[in-house]
Amino acid sequence: MNNPHLEKFLNEQIQIPSPLFNEVRQYALQRGFPLISDDVGQQLQMFASFFDSPKILELGSGFGYSAMWFLEGMSKGEIHLCDFTQANLDLAEGYLKKMGKFSLVKPMYCGNALDYIKNSKSTFDIIFIDIDKLFYLDAIKASVEHLTSGGLIIMDNLFFGGRVYLDDGKKQLGRKSILDAIDFIKQDSRFIVSMIDVGDGLLLAKLR
Ligand SMILES: C[S@@+](CC[C@H](N)C(=O)[O-])C[C@H]1O[C@@H](n2cnc3c(N)ncnc32)[C@H](O)[C@@H]1O
Repeated sequence: MNNPHLEKFLNEQIQIPSPLFNEVRQYALQRGFPLISDDVGQQLQMFASFFDSPKILELGSGFGYSAMWFLEGMSKGEIHLCDFTQANLDLAEGYLKKMGKFSLVKPMYCGNALDYIKNSKSTFDIIFIDIDKLFYLDAIKASVEHLTSGGLIIMDNLFFGGRVYLDDGKKQLGRKSILDAIDFIKQDSRFIVSMIDVGDGLLLAKLR
């Protein structure tokens, strides 16, 4: 967003669900760990709430902040978390228990999220992609095979800090993987695709 006044206004409107959300964000800030922004979180909450009992898969859960936002929009359903790092998932477990929503978490997978989705026999109502950008093309290809009818793929960091539309010559592989992922999904006529200027950019792809 290139209008700082509008950005400030919108950020001031965000309803942070509970002090726990601030606690997790503070902890991430101290560690320099990247989380979804809160305007993205609100979108995740909103999308989860559109389903009666959503089945959600996160690729790249970190220590559970994005899952907390999804869960804020859910009273039923389930969310699967994936991350490379067990220490992140342990932290996620603590936060989600504190939130009182851990019963909807099943399972937490430690390892390559791409292996988890490729080996999964399930389909999901929402698949959220927030892993290393190098894997975005692989992640979106695997996701289209694991969506329920009417399901939604949400891809975070679509803009890659501006590098997607302003080529600075750095992180070329990540940039290429994101651009290839966009091309791939746009060419699949089964999907309605939209890109929105929230946080670092979200791609939404809904299976008709
Ligand atoms: C941007 S952080 C996720 C933040 C999280 N979605 C949130 O906002 O709370 C990316 C996470 O994905 C994990 N990751 C990156 N590539 C992965 C992969 N291929 N499989 C599993 N985890 C991966 C990293 O360990 C890191 O914790």
